[in-house]
Amino acid sequence: MSKRTIVSMPGDGIGKAVLDETIRVLDAAGFDAEYVEGDIGWEFWRKEGNPLPQRTIDLIAKHKIALFGAITSKPKDEAFEELAPEFKEKNLVYSSPIVGLRQHFNLEICVRPCKTYKGNPLNFVRRGIGNEIEEPIVDVVIFRQNTEGLYGGVEWSNPSEDVYNAFMTHPKFKKNFGNVPKEEISISTRIFSKERTENILREAFQHAKEYGYKSVTLAEKPNVIRETSGMMYKMAQQIQKSDYPEIELWNTNIDAQMMWLTKNPEDYGVIVAGNMFGDIVSDGFAGLIGGLGFACSAQWSKDGIAVFEPTHGSAPKYADYETSIVNPLAMIESACMMLDYINEKTIAKKIRKAVAEVIEEGKVRTYDMMKMRGTPDVVKKGAASTKEMADAVIAKL
Ligand code: NAI
Ligand code: MG
Repeated sequence: MSKRTIVSMPGDGIGKAVLDETIRVLDAAGFDAEYVEGDIGWEFWRKEGNPLPQRTIDLIAKHKIALFGAITSKPKDEAFEELAPEFKEKNLVYSSPIVGLRQHFNLEICVRPCKTYKGNPLNFVRRGIGNEIEEPIVDVVIFRQNTEGLYGGVEWSNPSEDVYNAFMTHPKFKKNFGNVPKEEISISTRIFSKERTENILREAFQHAKEYGYKSVTLAEKPNVIRETSGMMYKMAQQIQKSDYPEIELWNTNIDAQMMWLTKNPEDYGVIVAGNMFGDIVSDGFAGLIGGLGFACSAQWSKDGIAVFEPTHGSAPKYADYETSIVNPLAMIESACMMLDYINEKTIAKKIRKAVAEVIEEGKVRTYDMMKMRGTPDVVKKGAASTKEMADAVIAKL
């Protein structure tokens, strides 16, 4: 196969450390690729007034596949303060470049697998009958709609007359908010479209079928959020009935799901949800398999643009340590998802096997795996650095 070009976007904070180490692992595993760096993040907001420069969008459009570390987002006012003086009078408003990227390329399918690694000291355990400690095997893949819903960005504070009047036509708005002054109202909408809802549902069912999961669970709230969750549930029922009769469709409410996931996580297979509930439920499951150091994700559009990133952020408090201490496994796992996506499954399998061996052996563990606080001296106290963890994976390869 010809050499691949991958856009690498380290972003801010620990993003660079985990991405650099991941590329070393990819090289060592024999993945033949060239990496072109894409600018994204806080530095570009400050210097250029744009955290997602057009040149980065062009690079991704050209090469289609990207690895992303993490970015830093700060609240509106702070963002304005840090802006270079020449941009201050331009009325620029900071918005998260990763959310921008998702919307620009319609990266509507977000996939977040949460699988237990044998021997991970952070695995969820519970007390079983007769008082013994049980360690259930979690093997869940969350499909999250990534562009719509509550994170769609259609929102107002002190809405314009037009918007306000439109809302006033809804009897419930009129009854509950009709006498609240307009200036005191903030509105964030939750919009679902049929096409994108169908896309995420179909990807979830297809994944269940391909990888042998017996159920797809819709984690929404159709009994209360009747229009959006309700539509999604109805569509899920239709898709299951017509195309995936062999897979069970389970319908749980998101709140109950958050309770069930610690009571019986081993019962779930594929989970599908809208944007915010998918975000929440995937963090919940990630907590059962080791937390942010292990939580990986993929997001893609229906026309082949795909970005792979760990779920964690830029962890600014660790960014300036002389030796990086954070766990690179979430980023490495995200890169494995990229390899699966571009059909380099053998290399992905090899890396996952190496990671599993390192974890099971238990000799090399980053500070999070040792349940330490992330102080600069953790390496002196026996924790592996980011690089040492990558080295351990490379040694197993
Ligand atoms: P965070 O994920 O950056 O860090 C939270 C805590 O999790 C860290 O302090 C650390 O204890 C732990 N942690 C994170 N990654 C780890 C790793 N690889 N290994 C070991 N421990 C790890 O979230 P936080 O502190 O809420 O946000 C920091 C910045 O990151 C903010 O500016 C936020 O907006 C941004 N962010 C960016 C995301 C992205 O780029 N997709 C996602 C989440 C937050
Ligand atoms: Mg999240």
